[in-house]
Amino acid sequence: MLVNFHVRDRTMEKENIFSFKTSKRAPFVLRMVLFFFVMAFGVYICYVSLRQIKPNNTPLVVGKAGTHCDIHSIPPEETPFVHFPQPRTYSRAECACTPVRFFVILSMQRSGSGWFETLLNSHPNISSNGEIFSSKQRRSNISSILTTLDTIYNLEWNSSAAKNECVAAVGFKWMLNQAVMDYHQQIANYFKWKGVSVIILFRKNLLRRLISVLANVFDKDAKQLNGTHKSHVHTKEEAEILARYKPTINVTGLLPDLSHAERIMADSLQYFNRTRHIILYYEDLINNHRVKTALADVQEFLKVPIRRLTSRQVKIHTKPPAEQVDNWEDVYKILKDTRYEHFLHHTDYNT
Ligand SMILES: *[C@@H]1O[C@H](CO)[C@@H](O)[C@H](O)[C@H]1NC(C)=O
Ligand SMILES: *[C@@H]1O[C@H](CO)[C@@H](O)[C@H](O)[C@H]1NC(C)=O
Ligand SMILES: *[C@@H]1O[C@H](CO)[C@@H](O)[C@H](O)[C@H]1NC(C)=O
Ligand SMILES: *[C@@H]1O[C@H](CO)[C@@H](O)[C@H](O)[C@H]1NC(C)=O
Ligand SMILES: *[C@@H]1O[C@H](CO)[C@@H](O)[C@H](O)[C@H]1NC(C)=O
Ligand SMILES: *[C@@H]1O[C@H](CO)[C@@H](O)[C@H](O)[C@H]1NC(C)=O
Repeated sequence: MLVNFHVRDRTMEKENIFSFKTSKRAPFVLRMVLFFFVMAFGVYICYVSLRQIKPNNTPLVVGKAGTHCDIHSIPPEETPFVHFPQPRTYSRAECACTPVRFFVILSMQRSGSGWFETLLNSHPNISSNGEIFSSKQRRSNISSILTTLDTIYNLEWNSSAAKNECVAAVGFKWMLNQAVMDYHQQIANYFKWKGVSVIILFRKNLLRRLISVLANVFDKDAKQLNGTHKSHVHTKEEAEILARYKPTINVTGLLPDLSHAERIMADSLQYFNRTRHIILYYEDLINNHRVKTALADVQEFLKVPIRRLTSRQVKIHTKPPAEQVDNWEDVYKILKDTRYEHFLHHTDYNT
């Protein structure tokens, strides 16, 4: 593997492989010693170079101040996903050897990711740090993106969600249109290399998503809640006020818009298919009546103790879509007898 011999004569080769320049009369023992020395050196070189090729695929086992963390209880197939970060600005104290998993929520606007994040943050061992790349500057180039990711996963990101010392899963939410699709290759490589678990959160009913997008855009200007714009609300009264507005949907662009959103979803699934991932649907999260709920699935995916997760957020649009669009008849005509027809029905959730 290491040394390439170019010897034409097969009998010569037999002699030369092990003897190098030692005389044929050199004692057998000496040759064997030399042979084992060469073997041992070769193995050592292999070991060293393998370590240098992929240093981050081997689990980081050095905890606080160089103390070693015991990873024997972690199954070997899990080790690429387990980390022991050492933040520079504080000490993880007694939790220095608490393993941390890295995650990201990839989603699209108005697909329930804000609500989902509040649910995750109600867990004592999960920190999801919000929509970090809503800042254009942070996502303006790949090096800025990777530096930001390093800060988050090294537990150095300051946010109200940070549960620094004893956190077991750390992440944030990232909208696909916030440079994820532009730099998907580098980002997927980073996730794979760093052992980041990807939570993909989509909304099946893209018509309802569109209604929510339009209503949210409208409220940015209208500021219906006493002059403040709110994307998420905490009371039924606030939800009712926001839901009173019925957007008019531009039916000319409707079919292309829906298929565009579908294509983004399909492309992103393909881009992140090779990273460890779970796919969740908003509709499954709100229909939380199954015995084994989607929220239990995601906690299992993050390997945190399973808890009942709670959020103070209240759903804004709860009525059938027919009652939430101003030009419903036009929308109905356009979508009827297309593959999007099921979006017209009120089968989203059954609460
Ligand atoms: C979860 O957090 C609690 C409180 O900080 C801590 O005592 C516990 O060890 C943590 N559990 C895990 C699995 O990290
Ligand atoms: C990347 O973006 C950051 C923040 O906007 C900026 O400070 C930095 O100079 C940029 N780097 C490159 C290589 O363009
Ligand atoms: C977080 O806060 C600490 C201490 O307040 C500060 O030293 C550090 O620079 C902050 N980190 C970021 C990313 O803002
Ligand atoms: C708006 O303000 C009034 C008076 O402060 C308060 O009674 C009312 O509840 C507020 N409405 C909303 C939707 O926040
Ligand atoms: C409706 O969508 C079409 C196609 O996307 C666009 O050309 C047109 O300007 C839009 N109409 C309005 C009123 O926004
Ligand atoms: C991901 O890749 C696997 C294996 O190549 C394939 O079976 C699966 O359909 C792919 N999933 C998506 C969503 O592309």
